[in-house]
Amino acid sequence: MCGIVGYVGNKTAADILLDGLTSLEYRGYDSSGIALNIDGKMKLYKAQGKLQNLRNIIKNDYAEISKSTIGIGHIRWATHGVPSVENAHPHTCNCGKVAVVHNGIIENYKELKAKLESKGCHFKSQTDTETVAHLVASKYAETQDLTEAVRLATKEIEGAYALAVMHQDVKGTIVATRRNAPLVIGFGEDENFVASDIPALIQYTKKAMYLEDNQIVTLTSDSAKIIDINNNPQTLKTETLPWEPVALSKMGYKHYMLKEIHEQPDIVRNVLTGKLKATDEQINLNEVTLQKADLKELKRIQIVACGTSLHAAMVGKYLIEDFCEIPVEVEASSEYIYRKTITDDKTLVIGVSQSGETADTITAIRLAKKKGSHILIITNRPDSTMAREADSLVPVNAGIEVSVAATKSYMAQLISFYLLAIYMAEVKGSINSEELNELKHELIMLPQKIDKVLTNKEEIQKIARKFSGFKDFIFIARGINFPTALEGALKLKEISYINATGYSAGELKHGPIAMLDDSMPVLSVLMKGKVYEKILSNAEEAKARNARMIALTDSDDIKLDDLFENIIHVPEISEILSPALAIVPLQLLAYYIAEFLGKDVDQPRNLAKSVTVE
Ligand code: G6P
Repeated sequence: MCGIVGYVGNKTAADILLDGLTSLEYRGYDSSGIALNIDGKMKLYKAQGKLQNLRNIIKNDYAEISKSTIGIGHIRWATHGVPSVENAHPHTCNCGKVAVVHNGIIENYKELKAKLESKGCHFKSQTDTETVAHLVASKYAETQDLTEAVRLATKEIEGAYALAVMHQDVKGTIVATRRNAPLVIGFGEDENFVASDIPALIQYTKKAMYLEDNQIVTLTSDSAKIIDINNNPQTLKTETLPWEPVALSKMGYKHYMLKEIHEQPDIVRNVLTGKLKATDEQINLNEVTLQKADLKELKRIQIVACGTSLHAAMVGKYLIEDFCEIPVEVEASSEYIYRKTITDDKTLVIGVSQSGETADTITAIRLAKKKGSHILIITNRPDSTMAREADSLVPVNAGIEVSVAATKSYMAQLISFYLLAIYMAEVKGSINSEELNELKHELIMLPQKIDKVLTNKEEIQKIARKFSGFKDFIFIARGINFPTALEGALKLKEISYINATGYSAGELKHGPIAMLDDSMPVLSVLMKGKVYEKILSNAEEAKARNARMIALTDSDDIKLDDLFENIIHVPEISEILSPALAIVPLQLLAYYIAEFLGKDVDQPRNLAKSVTVE
């Protein structure tokens, strides 16, 4: 949520900042801004709306702007104050010499603001961030040292933050720090970078260091000095980033979302590599550090997650309960944290998160950790806060996901849950190996089946075009595909803004059926298995109310032709693995509907890829 980039070196800072912000645009996009030091003067450029608006402003003054080789930039997802030029970062103090960009929330900003106002500070925005600019300026007035000013300021700030700060009189220097919000430093030849996430740096350098909480870095073009909040010097620990810049290009696809949907067969192969070697070999999941004896003793599992990750967690519950006979509770992290949470050292708590930075889930796992639970994290970002707090870390290796609507990370999370559930079942001996070996075989075959769905995309595109004018949509399913219905509906509402809801098919008759008539498409996720006939009956109930009927199925039963107006066929697959195949056409359906409607597919309104506030 929000993106930060800073540069100090010998190149035109504005170009690097704009490139960096472009690659962070998926974290927020309601306004943006940069601060540059031009001929010894602090200059701010800000715009409301998409980054292109800032680009246009900068273009008009480029001759002047291109002189600066130092700057900080920000792309915003509003928390305090509406998206506007005044509220866009960077923020500054009365004299305009300090510039600050910030991710996170300053929780005690009201008290700080009152104190600063009483000392004569004039606030120009409604943001919490502006307090930091005034606070740093007041500390600088006392110390004449920017690093010390930032250090003293952070002693008074409560909340979560990643900050980058410049001062007009401290030439060629950026000071940056973090607490509960990610920040990474990138090292180049006579140039250094700071950013809230890797995509902003990767095209310039792969040499980087993740800053830890309460560390403060002072960056110049040829040095990086780190201290902690108590002024103790810290060691630079650089590492080589595993990402390739090409991973962040669209590779010829119109949108990142479409590219990421197409990456899914490879993602499945990646996740399985090294873990599932042969159908008759046990799953290798060294990442689970919970002792096998403790695993056998587990009385309960709780899974916490948000959004799409929550839907992966729901499939995970089904798998673990089915294979291991351990009761599993799944809860939205934001609900888990504000009630009496019952957990203990006999409970395994699993946090699922694409970004590893979602504030609600971080709070939930910290709470469980305090109560003695083993924390297992399934995340796409082994460099994230959640990964660092994990007792067991199961990385899902989906690569950086740029589109705000999660697709390939969901697939990777699902596959990780299959591996985890099989691994646990093998440790517990709770299921016969023939059944598991059959599933392993199917997992190995899954990428080919996903490929087949992808080659059938024109069919889905036609259905999307036909239904793109509807205002509401219902997705129904039962059993292990209930989360598929929820995720299919979530994808559609996220990127097309159509009012789409997923229901358990059996619940349709208990309320939602009242909404059905010929203006309501009902999509049934109808995969062969235990609940197939039941869903069919529920679909009949919808048809009897004139709903517009669509099926997603692996069945070639000709009976379906009478019941459904349109049928999306997928290759035959076992019911237990079907969520990993059935979701792909629903992702494509959502994508094509949004595309026909001319929506901003990769950056839907009001959303952010990574939500670092509760
Ligand atoms: C945001 C994103 C969703 C995502 C959710 C959880 O709301 O827009 O796409 O599913 O956060 O994010 P996480 O990184 O924890 O999976």
